[in-house]
Amino acid sequence: MTERMILTLAILGGTGKEGQALAARWAKAGYHVIIGSRSRDKADKAVAAVNERLGEDVVHGMENAEAAAACDIAILTVPFGAHRSTLESMKDHLQGKLLVDVSVPVKLDDPAVVQMPPAGSAAQEAQAILGSDVDVVAAFQNVSHTHLKRDEPVPCDVLVCGDDEAARQQVLRLVKAAGLVGWDAGPLQNAVVVEGLTAVLLGINKRYKIKGAGIRITGEQEPA
Ligand SMILES: NC(=O)c1ccc[n+]([C@@H]2O[C@H](COP(=O)([O-])OP(=O)(O)OC[C@H]3O[C@@H](n4cnc5c(N)ncnc54)[C@H](OP(=O)(O)O)[C@@H]3O)[C@@H](O)[C@H]2O)c1
Repeated sequence: MTERMILTLAILGGTGKEGQALAARWAKAGYHVIIGSRSRDKADKAVAAVNERLGEDVVHGMENAEAAAACDIAILTVPFGAHRSTLESMKDHLQGKLLVDVSVPVKLDDPAVVQMPPAGSAAQEAQAILGSDVDVVAAFQNVSHTHLKRDEPVPCDVLVCGDDEAARQQVLRLVKAAGLVGWDAGPLQNAVVVEGLTAVLLGINKRYKIKGAGIRITGEQEPA
């Protein structure tokens, strides 16, 4: 049995732009995917849209709490304003699991300006709320849904930060399964850079009138 046949991924707040696009990519790669929402009805509508796109009924919908309880790995895709309250209400269901935090803390009135929480970054805030029995990993903040939703290769890389090496490697496998190139970007403390970079990219989108500015790591591999 491959890990894709075993693992269930729950995307909390998965009815939104980023969550639906990731759901489609992971379902296509063979993972069990649940789209979570505050409303079962809204989850079902998002599921119908994703399944129609995929041409098969592979994604399922649940309320966030039910999805968090049912999953092996949770992915959080809510606006930063809903970050703390969503995590606090999911805390018990996430113990012993891995949480991938996609959130970007930006100013409410200007998403091109970063606004880090007192914990240092959204991902560090998630770790503080959930406690040490949850492996929090930050990823996907620099990839716009405008790329993810298209059925074509994504010209952006994914930086993956987390304190647990095995958890980072697990998320790097999810990045690859979604069809992207991921890089181990070190401890969770480094998420401040990755999350902050998104505000920079959003400002570049605005100033240069482009869609989905992203990053790509360059360099030459040293011979072994
Ligand atoms: N969009 C992108 O291209 C992109 C790229 C990289 C990172 N991100 C980050 O990913 C996260 C999600 O982005 P998005 O564009 O997908 O967001 P979104 O579409 O605005 O919202 C995602 C979902 O969050 C839930 N939500 C909204 N307000 C909430 C509240 N007050 N309490 C609880 N849940 C709430 C909603 O789900 P329900 O109503 O169904 O509960 C909504 O469908 C953000 O932190 C964003 O910064 C986004």
